[in-house]
Amino acid sequence: MEKIIIFDTTLRDGEQSPGASLGVKEKVEIARQLDKLGVDIIEAGFPISSTGDFESVRAVSQAVKRPVICALARAKEEDIKTAYKAIKGANRKRIHVFLATSKIHMKYKLRKPEDEILKLAGKAVKLAKKYCDDVEFSPEDAARTKEGFLFRVLEAVIAAGATTVNIPDTVGYSTPHEFGALIAKIRENVPNIKKAIISIHCHNDLGLGVANSLAAIKNGAKQVECTINGLGERAGNASLEEIVMALKTRSDFYHKATSIKTPLLYKTSRLVSHLTGMIVQPNKAIVGQNAFSHEAGIHQDGVLKKRSTYEIIKPEEVGFTESFIVLGKHSGRHAFSRRLKDLGYKLTKKETDSAFLRFKALADKKKEIFDEDLEALIEEQLEKIPKSWSLSYLQTKSATTSSPRAIVGLRGPDGKIQRASSIGDGQVDACYRAIEKIIKQKGKLEDYSIQSVTGGKDAMGEVRVRVKFKKHIISGHGASTDIIEASAKAYLNTINKLIARRQTKT
Ligand code: KIV
Ligand code: ZN
Repeated sequence: MEKIIIFDTTLRDGEQSPGASLGVKEKVEIARQLDKLGVDIIEAGFPISSTGDFESVRAVSQAVKRPVICALARAKEEDIKTAYKAIKGANRKRIHVFLATSKIHMKYKLRKPEDEILKLAGKAVKLAKKYCDDVEFSPEDAARTKEGFLFRVLEAVIAAGATTVNIPDTVGYSTPHEFGALIAKIRENVPNIKKAIISIHCHNDLGLGVANSLAAIKNGAKQVECTINGLGERAGNASLEEIVMALKTRSDFYHKATSIKTPLLYKTSRLVSHLTGMIVQPNKAIVGQNAFSHEAGIHQDGVLKKRSTYEIIKPEEVGFTESFIVLGKHSGRHAFSRRLKDLGYKLTKKETDSAFLRFKALADKKKEIFDEDLEALIEEQLEKIPKSWSLSYLQTKSATTSSPRAIVGLRGPDGKIQRASSIGDGQVDACYRAIEKIIKQKGKLEDYSIQSVTGGKDAMGEVRVRVKFKKHIISGHGASTDIIEASAKAYLNTINKLIARRQTKT
């Protein structure tokens, strides 16, 4: 299958999202992840725009060696020289020159006539070409540019040496049918078009960024510019993960491939969200928390019988570990019984029937039923009193120059106190390792969250954890004004539940 070049502009156009600005360190971290993800080109920034951007592009050029590193420049000598200076250290480099060509931009923003724009574009590409073989040109606002003029500009910049011509829908105005047709017309009407790669760059103001990009690919575009999580100016750019998964999932229709390692998509999305502070909406396609969650009873039953009844993508294909069955008032008996089994309970049919009735009653009052709710429900039904471990004392030490250390004392089921100490990656990790030494159980922390449940400096913090002990995932919680203590209590809570379950059920 023919390959579509993935040009990631998360660090340039993505960073232009209001409130998403990134420092040099964060940009390098994201660039390293984009490299692992397999993107072909990283647009690292717009070096003339600020010293920080210049430094970021320079640092990314030095840190990441496989992908092409691209820097943006206006069609101005100073911009082009600065862009080159920033990417000089890169293994493979590209200068991306842009100049607006739509009537509205030329008249009101640039105040220049068509002929002058045409000359400036050619001149800028020629200058960039002196520094770098790989030159991309973007006629900004191409989707609103007069077609005849757009063809002339493209012909001129290719003649001047542009190796890629990018067609931006700068304001997200186009529609899939129209944008696809524009690419087809460019292929027919620009005489030297075969000498350059056609790229597209779609914004999402009408929510059509991905659809427009795919229509362009269907009509012969070979490079697509996109961002992780669809970050970007205003409503953002076309989302990388959506384009890549559309091409992959519907390869029967598009017949195109990419070099993206799709199981890294979720991790990359989380990293970008974490570093930019831009939260991903839960129902976002591919990487949203709900993308693989099933709520309706009929869907849950179908997915449990055969996943492809309601899932067109396997969650692990994009880096989720599993699909989620969200238990709530719409859930049926099948999903309920499966969840109990996953939690390690072995109930008789009669016990399950009775538990299901109680679960339905609870689900009418509570929107989502968590594992802890189910555990409380079953434990209450089986009248089981677990023998437990409790925290007797806890001491932690942390300094910038040494590894965090924790000393833990636990009162065991026999009433005696046992003590252990450990170092760890952080105070919580050290504390968990010390607990594990005493209990002689090792769990894998799958999820950890902390929330303040009261206000003020002495707020009570509640820690919730999900821990995997061999095949069982157990959730626990603990509260304290000290977050390390709350963390220790939450972990002990899961251990006590595990012991109780082993004693009575499995
Ligand atoms: O949206 C746009 O037109 C751009 C260009 C600089 C390519 O981001
Ligand atoms: Zn853009």
